[in-house]
Amino acid sequence: MRQTRRDCLTLLGAGLLPFRASAAGAESASLRALAARTGITFGTAATHELFDDETYRALIVQQCGIIVPGRGLKFDWLRPDEKSFAFEEGDRLLAFAKAQGLAMRGHTLIWNDWPPDWLKRAPLSTLPYILDQHVERVMTHYAGALQSWDVVNEPFVAWGNAPGGFRQGPWYSAMGPDYIFRAFQRAAAADPRTKLVLNEAWTERSDVYGLAVRKSLLRLVDQIKDKGLRLDAIGLQAHLDPAIAYDDASFVDFLHALEARGVEIYITELDINDASYSGSFAERDKQAADRVYTFLKHALSVKALGMVVCWGLADRYTWLREPSVLAALKLTRLARALPYDDDLQPKPMRDALARAFLEREI
Ligand code: XIL
Repeated sequence: MRQTRRDCLTLLGAGLLPFRASAAGAESASLRALAARTGITFGTAATHELFDDETYRALIVQQCGIIVPGRGLKFDWLRPDEKSFAFEEGDRLLAFAKAQGLAMRGHTLIWNDWPPDWLKRAPLSTLPYILDQHVERVMTHYAGALQSWDVVNEPFVAWGNAPGGFRQGPWYSAMGPDYIFRAFQRAAAADPRTKLVLNEAWTERSDVYGLAVRKSLLRLVDQIKDKGLRLDAIGLQAHLDPAIAYDDASFVDFLHALEARGVEIYITELDINDASYSGSFAERDKQAADRVYTFLKHALSVKALGMVVCWGLADRYTWLREPSVLAALKLTRLARALPYDDDLQPKPMRDALARAFLEREI
């Protein structure tokens, strides 16, 4: 049963909870515990660094209730060629999660971005069959073991020029938007126990692009539901970028519109691109923390929100430092995007998460 704030304070008085409702207590309690108190599962993306870096691994076990492979279950990683399924990294992460009592979620079955060359070359008429086989084989492999699956990732793109704003790519070229319905239909049949998620970027911005994607996403949720397909949750990535327009009120309205459609909401890839902040590390970290706190505080006010996953826990492993991402985003310095720093020490962003969880009244 979910504990209320009052229960929590009573238990604290009785010394039964490992933290105190104070800023100092929030520092020592794990993010996992602070989030769980208010019905939220907290976690992180994980890749090979989890195996290579013992201290980081310990931090994940200490702070997280769930992990999600950052790359190991993506189509391009899993499918080096049409015949092979490279389950090693996913299996290794799942074995680790099970041994440590962590949940794991799956990311992601079908995505029009990052298609391997062999898929780009495949005759379009074969893509429905490849989709069916992929969803069935991968979901069956992990049946019953994963908390949720991102069945489709990023159906829309902010500057998409396909009708309806859909992201173009092999699946879209072969089937149009039907690839989405097909994937959900096959996913529901392959594993009735895991939660089925539609994951999207872009909605955490209130500029013309963000507003268009929000509208398109709501329409897509209605279409999936109208077809009688199972859709359990909407994943919102939350790669925050303070250089882009954002307003809390319209984002909360959007979350309520999702909630009204009977889906859960997960924040699936939280981090912050701090390129637009100036000053010392301390000044940048403070601004980033304020932004994350405000964002989360509002998101957490919505009852349907059930999960917050960061896209990594420590700056040294943020994807925003990968050479290809540095180049694509024209970043001229290393991002400080995550709750822990390069030395795995907690940053103000860590306090921001803790405070937002602690203050949730739901
Ligand atoms: C990123 C990974 O973190 C990187 O390692 C990889 O180079 C590119 O993809 N949205 C998503 C994630 O849904 O899968 C992306 O992950 C980040 C953006």
